[in-house]
Amino acid sequence: MTTTATNTIKQNEKKAEKVPLGATVNIPPRRLDFEFDENTAKRYFYADDPFLSAFWITLSTLFPEGEDFFVQAVRHYRKDITDPTLKAQVAGFIGQEAMHSKEHEAWNELGQKFGYPTEKLDKTLGKLLGAVKKYTPKIFQLSATVSLEHYTAIIAEQLLRDESHRELADPETLKLWLWHALEENEHKTVAYDVYEKVSGNYLLRAGTMIPVTVIFFAVIGVFQAQMLASDGKLLNLRNNWKGVKFLFGRKGLFTQLWPQYLDFFKPGFHPSQHDTDALLDEWRERLFGAEGMLTEQHEQASQKKKKKLH
Ligand SMILES: [Fe+2]
Ligand SMILES: [Fe+2]
Repeated sequence: MTTTATNTIKQNEKKAEKVPLGATVNIPPRRLDFEFDENTAKRYFYADDPFLSAFWITLSTLFPEGEDFFVQAVRHYRKDITDPTLKAQVAGFIGQEAMHSKEHEAWNELGQKFGYPTEKLDKTLGKLLGAVKKYTPKIFQLSATVSLEHYTAIIAEQLLRDESHRELADPETLKLWLWHALEENEHKTVAYDVYEKVSGNYLLRAGTMIPVTVIFFAVIGVFQAQMLASDGKLLNLRNNWKGVKFLFGRKGLFTQLWPQYLDFFKPGFHPSQHDTDALLDEWRERLFGAEGMLTEQHEQASQKKKKKLH
């Protein structure tokens, strides 16, 4: 990279630090700099269970490449957005997703140290999404982003609402997931509203969700199997079956999301119809309020970044 290009990036970063446009519309990118240490972190952070812990690592492995894909899909249409509020929301969305990719990379590195093939699977997903970017129209890529943002929003909402996750998960690692869950709901309307502005085609939106769902679960299934195999747990059938029931059983994580998932197919659907305003106020306070569990970490990470830029 040339010196001029590096300087321009630094200047842009300075501007972004001074005026976080997303913050004006309640979508502030928050820097956190998570550090995970394999000597102190829990390998089976979720319910002390190999299957369920591997499931969350599988999900996390999808984020760096996946969220970069979302950002590129939305950024492509940024020039077509004239409404100042939506412009600010897009800025917030891009900033938040960039931070998520960075912090999940840090957690995925920990997974790699524990022996999970997170790097290899990240590359596999990169290739898959590279092919999608190369061979499909931009509007399909945006529509796929809208579908996947619906998934992240409803999974994240459940993570914030359902106290049982907090009883089952290691509190330190859970902070990463709660922060991500909060921000997924803060920006859940953005990709949707951009899509509505530049296309709004109902059939494409609803029609995209079906292959996206099939591919989403196929990727999760294949990645999960590889995570378990690397841990020597693939043939631990009894526990794996218990894990599958935890996800897809009668009161399973995904089963509970079914009604919210189906709402997406209504012609008049909008993500804001799943009202999370009060939930988000509560979690902003719990994570970043005066006594917030991430307030200090966020302040320290922001200070560190400011010092680097000056
Ligand atoms: Fe995200
Ligand atoms: Fe998102």
